[in-house]
Amino acid sequence: MKILVFGSMNIDLIFSVDHIVKPGETISSVSLVKSAGGKGANQATALAKAGLPVYMAGKIGQDGQFLLELLRSYGVNTDKVRLYEGATGQAIIQVDKNGQNSIVLYSGGNGQIGIEEIKETIGEFGKDDTIVLQNEVAHLREIMEAAKNQGLRICLNPSPCDEKIEKLPLDLVDLFFVNEIEGAALVSLPSTTQAPQILDRLVERFPRAEIILTAGKDGAYYGFRKTREKGDIIDLPVVDTTGAGDTFTGYFIAARAKNCTVAQALEIACKASSFAVSRKGAMEAIPLGKEVFT
Ligand code: RIB
Repeated sequence: MKILVFGSMNIDLIFSVDHIVKPGETISSVSLVKSAGGKGANQATALAKAGLPVYMAGKIGQDGQFLLELLRSYGVNTDKVRLYEGATGQAIIQVDKNGQNSIVLYSGGNGQIGIEEIKETIGEFGKDDTIVLQNEVAHLREIMEAAKNQGLRICLNPSPCDEKIEKLPLDLVDLFFVNEIEGAALVSLPSTTQAPQILDRLVERFPRAEIILTAGKDGAYYGFRKTREKGDIIDLPVVDTTGAGDTFTGYFIAARAKNCTVAQALEIACKASSFAVSRKGAMEAIPLGKEVFT
């Protein structure tokens, strides 16, 4: 089984601030760090650090070469990443003193992925393979349709959750990863709805898909037909929540691929994301498999 992450690759500019800047306000940051990120690249990293063979597909400019080098150093196969003349995607990230973040994206290469390269890349994968997707690249609908035509299993993390999501062929998805806000939005519930209720509605709305609902400090919930499971986080100091969801996604998929039960996979993914939030940054903060599979 091969795993393909077709997704975003970003240069993250991380500003550590006292509080997230308010409209009209100017503040100074305590530090600025340039690092590797993008939900796609982070999820590929988590899968690779968990010990799975993983392929990354996406698009970057010359300024993103360091992303490729870092991904390769983690064992991600980057042969399917295309280079183009423009700029790599960027994320302006503010992280406040409680570890909470706020992100502004510039799509760069992520917005320049073309139909032909989608067909070419996905054509090299087939039945028994899995594709892992997020909502930070162009032509997500075409990627999903091409993947389904090839018989791939589709895992979707519909993040960031914007107006494009409801236009996607969501019934093609086999495994969803959503947080409470994304989950509630998908089934038109108020964002204040309790996680188990959101989960029930998601299971009803997507009867052929497995659903993972992450709930921050409350851990993560799983639903499929009548089955329900729950995983708990480990209580570690929260330093930076950037990439925690990506870490969870990669480790859950990896644990299931290693034949863990759903309950075990939830426990492993919760543990991995607890480690990730206790460290600064996105990709670099993702723990190694030997720290998590113990
Ligand atoms: O999920 C965290 C990621 O979101 C960051 O690395 C940033 O690049 C954005 O894609």
